[in-house]
Amino acid sequence: MSMTETKPTTPVAGTYQPKGMLIGGKWVGSASGARIAVENPAKRTTVAEVPRAAAADVDAAVAAADKAFPAWKAVVPRERGKLLLKIAEAIQARSEELARTIALETGNALRTQARGEANMTADIFRYFGGLASELKGETVPLGEHVLSYTRREPLGVVGAIIPWNAPVMLAALKIAPALCAGNVMVMKAAEDAPLGVLMMADICQEFLPPGVLNVLTGYGAECGGPLANHPRIAKLSFTGSTEVGKVIMRAAAERIVPVSLELGGKSPSLVYPDADEDWAVDGIINAMRFTRQSQSCTAGSRLFLHEDIFDSFLAKLEKKTTALKIGDPLDEASDIGTIINNKQFTKVCKYVDEGLKRSDAQLVFGGLPPKTGPLSEGYFTIPTVFADRSNDWRLAREEIFGPVLVAIRWSDEAEAIRMANDSHYGLAAYVWTHDIGRGLRAAHAIESGWVQVNQGGGQTPGMSYGGFKQSGLGREFSLEGMLDSFTQRKSVTVNLAV
Ligand code: NAI
Ligand code: MG
Repeated sequence: MSMTETKPTTPVAGTYQPKGMLIGGKWVGSASGARIAVENPAKRTTVAEVPRAAAADVDAAVAAADKAFPAWKAVVPRERGKLLLKIAEAIQARSEELARTIALETGNALRTQARGEANMTADIFRYFGGLASELKGETVPLGEHVLSYTRREPLGVVGAIIPWNAPVMLAALKIAPALCAGNVMVMKAAEDAPLGVLMMADICQEFLPPGVLNVLTGYGAECGGPLANHPRIAKLSFTGSTEVGKVIMRAAAERIVPVSLELGGKSPSLVYPDADEDWAVDGIINAMRFTRQSQSCTAGSRLFLHEDIFDSFLAKLEKKTTALKIGDPLDEASDIGTIINNKQFTKVCKYVDEGLKRSDAQLVFGGLPPKTGPLSEGYFTIPTVFADRSNDWRLAREEIFGPVLVAIRWSDEAEAIRMANDSHYGLAAYVWTHDIGRGLRAAHAIESGWVQVNQGGGQTPGMSYGGFKQSGLGREFSLEGMLDSFTQRKSVTVNLAV
């Protein structure tokens, strides 16, 4: 992604071409006329341009949402749900175009990732579309002379800011529950991956009244900043880095608005000696999200291996991981695609370089990306594993957001759990053992919002997902998530004696 104008735009067949941003049901450019070039990270070519929104555009979008709110709030919840179900089917019908668009702009491989994301997006609308009648309140037994009940009311204009790593799915996870609950939304797409989100918005707006969903494209501080600080925003929902999460929470504090944060992670995988088997190796590859270049907040990027199986497990991991094919994300043969942009690519390479230079750490496999050949045309990195005795160095503590896994040996279970918990993050965790009692004891001892035992999968609608510690605040993937994050409770108390 760069400041455009200089590079020619070459659209790619079978992908979505943007018509602008969506404000009040209309496709518009930015007030300033400025644009952002969208890059194909596999070829470093510009594939589209989108508007570069700033404060004036945020004002227009919030005004459009504000205007749409009273009527949308008044729609009978199940009728809102039915619209979401129609959107789900319309997304499903265009899922291949959506998947290709996601693969093109994110670098996530079509077969292993982007198709799954497109299908999951339809499923998220389907899931929340069916939940509208669950926006129930309670009655409170205050005595025979009183009727006291609660209502779940929408908050108003939700300001949503999303990242680029699973852009369309993460957008759907905010749009579907917020709108189901009767809110309206202004969403800022990530500057690196706006096309899939605009395509989804295009499908949504066929069914929704104008202004219920508005989508802006723009940079973080320039567009996300005014959105986070806008006086008419009633709720902020952010997914992205912990660093920016703090900025969003400060903005929320200024105006006392509720905030949901889904932030970074450095999640541990704890492997017991009895799990030195192929299924666990497959699970670790999945948990590490190697086929998403590990650009996942949920990635199990710290691998705690029992010393008895340390070498044998890593040998199996090397064999299976190096068999994965790295290549053009749009090629059906590719298992692994590219890193999103030059900034992230450079960052990942720096970590690998640091690992190579550290004397205590041993490179198990992988290394720096090739400097020549087809993979040097894009931001391709290669899965890399370092072995170390310590949990203390930068590579074992910081979120790399790239395919760099640190393997650490352990012998004492309590020490392994102490190391697993020695992090300011607490998003996910993975435990691998045939001994279910031991597995569950570890699951309960680990400080994370989501622990998986003997599997390394992704989130499914219905499970409350979110972080402990600095990995976030609030939950958004479930019925409870919708109720807690996108409604506010009102109590009504009636004197029946009058
Ligand atoms: P980021 O947190 O800067 O960007 C996420 C979103 O926030 C984007 O839409 C961006 O435009 C917006 N944003 C940035 N600064 C803002 C500001 N001051 N006010 C309002 N909105 C703002 O993440 P970035 O720069 O793309 O990646 C950096 C690191 O963040 C990654 O290496 C990774 O560690 C982490 N990250 C974590 C994600 C997760 O899913 N938890 C997703 C993406 C990145
Ligand atoms: Mg940033």
